[in-house]
Amino acid sequence: MPIKYVPFIPEPVEGQAVLGNFSRILRYKGADEVSMTLQRGMPLYEMEKQETVGKNADGNMVIRGECISACAYLKERGIQVDLVYIDPPFASGADYAKQVYIRRNPKVAEAIAQAEQEVDIEELKAFEEKMYGDVWDKEKYLNWMYENLMAIKSIMSETASIYVHLDFHVGHYVKILMDEIFGDENYQNDVYWYYYNKLHGATKKVFPRATDMILYYVKNRDAGFTFHHLTEERDKPIKKLKYSFVNGHIQNDKDENGKSITYLSTERQIDNVWKISMLQPADKEEPVGYATQKPEALLERIIGASSDQGMLVADFFGGSGVTANVAQKMGRRFIHCDIGVNSIQTTRDRLRVNGTEFDVLEIKDGVQLYRNPVQTMDKIKSLIPGLRNEDSLDSFWEGAISDSKLGTIPVYVPNLMDSSSKLLDTVLVNRVIHQAIPELDSSIKKVIVYYIDITSEEEIRKFIAQDDSTTVEIELRDLKTVLDDVVIGDHAEFRCEQTSEGLFTGYTVTIDRFISDRVLGKIMEYNQKAMLNSKKAFNPIEISEDGLELIEFLSLDCTAAEGEWHSDSEIKIDKLGYVIRNGQKTKFFWDGTIQSDKQPKRLKIRNICGDETIWEV
Ligand SMILES: C[S@@+](CC[C@H](N)C(=O)[O-])C[C@H]1O[C@@H](n2cnc3c(N)ncnc32)[C@H](O)[C@@H]1O
Repeated sequence: MPIKYVPFIPEPVEGQAVLGNFSRILRYKGADEVSMTLQRGMPLYEMEKQETVGKNADGNMVIRGECISACAYLKERGIQVDLVYIDPPFASGADYAKQVYIRRNPKVAEAIAQAEQEVDIEELKAFEEKMYGDVWDKEKYLNWMYENLMAIKSIMSETASIYVHLDFHVGHYVKILMDEIFGDENYQNDVYWYYYNKLHGATKKVFPRATDMILYYVKNRDAGFTFHHLTEERDKPIKKLKYSFVNGHIQNDKDENGKSITYLSTERQIDNVWKISMLQPADKEEPVGYATQKPEALLERIIGASSDQGMLVADFFGGSGVTANVAQKMGRRFIHCDIGVNSIQTTRDRLRVNGTEFDVLEIKDGVQLYRNPVQTMDKIKSLIPGLRNEDSLDSFWEGAISDSKLGTIPVYVPNLMDSSSKLLDTVLVNRVIHQAIPELDSSIKKVIVYYIDITSEEEIRKFIAQDDSTTVEIELRDLKTVLDDVVIGDHAEFRCEQTSEGLFTGYTVTIDRFISDRVLGKIMEYNQKAMLNSKKAFNPIEISEDGLELIEFLSLDCTAAEGEWHSDSEIKIDKLGYVIRNGQKTKFFWDGTIQSDKQPKRLKIRNICGDETIWEV
């Protein structure tokens, strides 16, 4: 249960109806239900500090959790942001995947011998893992967006600006939502990102798509917001007339012979069409292998135009951490929030390389998410005993269970991607009784309703008992009991020895064996699928006995044996096998060890899919 609900909007002046402020312009299915969620407020959960990187005097935050809950936390703490950039899932119908790279095994001597050579990227064995789903129906998406935008607005300072990155799928709808939420008087621009060099197929009967739209609004135009004009270099310098303002009128400057004075202009003011490469420059270290990652150049413009040094920049759908990274490089403070573990890890490691200081925080919303909600949803379905797909049922039901006495039992499972469905309250039960059950076949005797959060079990049971419009039995089940089974730790065999070699005296932890059933299961699944689909001979991915190639990151905590993590020594193995030691890139392959000056108390290992397990040393 949330600790409490935080109002989306400031307390109204006495006598003023809060929701009366919002007259819906855009009518779509479910639009009215949003007001109920808004009335309830944003769920505030406990926040747990996972790690502090550096001293973090600026209070930079990397938050794992949902946008709305992160906003509740900020609002409760009275934190206001000066600039927001969000690039939310687009309702594009796509399922994004993460490329997972098997690392080089340090025990393979040949690999060590090649240490000085560049590794052929083709050699890398990568497989894909579903990262987050982006499949919605439009109405649901707009409801969800509305709540998120309302939550974000509630933590923006009066002088703040917001940029919402979208594309043709829903950009036009969200513009109307934005007008409604921020007021059309606070609309500034549509910025078009023109990714001119995207590769296009010639098969479709359409002009190749090469733009995204970014909606730019300010919180309150009259309050005075930050805006700096930006310039860029022209492709070719052009001759321009020199002019001055005389009595408020523009006038060409003339020389003593009365001829207009010209000059060569090498720069132009940046307008609202931004021509920025989609392909990440090969000489830059930008790409971090995150699907949908945006270029830093885009964020440099947004942050440069709409913030000053020291201001607080937030991205609530932070992904690869591009906003946080650019913000810190430009001397701004930042908040990065994302629901997926891969985003948090990618951002943490990306910021670490730059020596940035920040806290890693986790919202304890009662859901033990298995890396990301899509995977958790997939996993849950396989963990509910007997649950099978049932095509004859309405999409409200996740599937059904067969019972020898009761026959088919439809099962409702809340969608973890949709915060409004996580809480079982009388509104949802009402929907079950009056909409979902009446749609079922008359032979159905019982339904099962899973929940993550419940307002009050007693209240809900009383509500069901008092409603005599159905004879179908409604069983309530806590989904968290299922989720508890989802996370199984990895297994590691290691030794810790006091060592001194050359200038180093300290401790060396050697990893002898690493077994990750979770990754091995995925690889097996991948091999089987690839084998079935492959037209030519397929080389299955094979993992060695000691399994060290499944390790992506190791960290030693020499400070505390429990609680918040202190990364006193860390090694990241990049996809080519090179070691990044304490944020510093090296040209060495990993040798199967990690060292620290002080005696380690705990060891953390992250596998190549992103699961982290901690052992006492
Ligand atoms: C399009 S990606 C953002 C990419 C990012 N701009 C970048 O350049 O890397 C959208 C992100 O939103 C995250 N996400 C989805 N639903 C969310 C929610 N309710 N709260 C916070 N993050 C969410 C996904 O995990 C994903 O990383």
